[in-house]
Amino acid sequence: MDFSLSEEHKMIRKAASDFAQNVCKPGVIERDSDQIWPAEQVKGMADLGFLGMMVDPKYGGAGLDTLSYVIGLEEISKVDNSASVLMSVNNSLVCWGLEAFGSEEQKQKYLVPLAKGEKIGAFCLSEPEAGSDATHQRTTAVDMGDHYVLNGTKNWITNGGCASVYLVIAHTDPAKGTKGINVLIVEKGMPGFVVGKKEDKLGIRSSDTHTLLFNDVKVPKENRIGEDGFGFKFAMKTLAGGRIGIAAQALGIAAGAYELAAAYAQQRSAFNKEIIQHQAIAFKLADMATEIEAARLLVYKAAALKDAGQNYDIASSMAKVFASEVAMKTTVEAVQIHGGYGYVKEYHVERLMRDAKITQIYEGTSEVQRIVISRGILA
Ligand code: CAA
Repeated sequence: MDFSLSEEHKMIRKAASDFAQNVCKPGVIERDSDQIWPAEQVKGMADLGFLGMMVDPKYGGAGLDTLSYVIGLEEISKVDNSASVLMSVNNSLVCWGLEAFGSEEQKQKYLVPLAKGEKIGAFCLSEPEAGSDATHQRTTAVDMGDHYVLNGTKNWITNGGCASVYLVIAHTDPAKGTKGINVLIVEKGMPGFVVGKKEDKLGIRSSDTHTLLFNDVKVPKENRIGEDGFGFKFAMKTLAGGRIGIAAQALGIAAGAYELAAAYAQQRSAFNKEIIQHQAIAFKLADMATEIEAARLLVYKAAALKDAGQNYDIASSMAKVFASEVAMKTTVEAVQIHGGYGYVKEYHVERLMRDAKITQIYEGTSEVQRIVISRGILA
């Protein structure tokens, strides 16, 4: 088994790392404090081809593999998780779903500008009363022949304000259960579609997370993705890939916090020696490095399975549940190693600790991942 990265993957890591340090790091503390959307960083990611990394070049993408994508996400997530979640949602939840299941017209109209980063996409599944229990959607889309009439509310939608293309999951026939769910492409500006409240969050504070309201929105029939009733499967298949992205984000958060803690431990002295010379600190770093490596292997394996065309449902859930728990543990320890400095903003680790928490929640909580894993291993 060869664990080494190809020259192309190493180049992507270097490009993403340079971008994270040179473009994302300046101002990241202020953007987080004041919830400022990362406009310059989003433009930079678009210029690098990072917003449509896995999309075929004929649809405006970079045509890279999933491993390239997770490597890019990992580096950006060491620094700026508001930028990296936008990258993850645009790539995995929006571009991937459109490329895999959209019609040629939908790809030309929506995928091309999304992959180029000229437009941003959002994935709209969660509702005020249907988060983990995704089959119990309250949003409805009534079939009127040549169009649907969409009504309902979606919550906690990443890119809710900045997006202009929204993939909205809704019940068209509640009596049919999951087979009565569809996914519709909704454009910003369609009459009756309102971008609601922006959330004031614990972490990823410069990512714009909104409630979305749909009041009698007329959505043309040609905006439905796939066959009638395909919406729930679309959501599940898309989320399986999305979870690899969030796992990569969690890995990056953990690795970023570890790097900061290791550097700090080598320059801070206490009791007449650098604190890394104290076993209490050295063992913490040893555990952090070991767990990060284990998380990286799970994330890369899930990406490799996807690239090989094999089933990755369980692997992506394993990667997400493990990497997000490592992110949480590692960032807490990174703050601890920094002592009082870790508790203030300028040392970056407190922000990474706040950012880590959401990786255990969005795109399926850790509990949902364990449902997917346990059903998979027991099947
Ligand atoms: N691929 C294809 N089909 C799948 C599938 C998959 N990965 N997973 C499930 N399905 C199918 C099942 O086969 C079943 O089909 P049939 O009825 O034909 O047999 C159907 O979907 C229903 O599946 P389940 O019976 O397993 O459904 P369930 O009610 O037990 O729920 C669940 C399963 C895993 C808990 C699911 O509801 C789930 O993943 N919930 C979490 C949702 C989630 O991740 N939300 C996050 C919101 S998005 C977000 O956070 C984005 C953002 O902005 C960052």
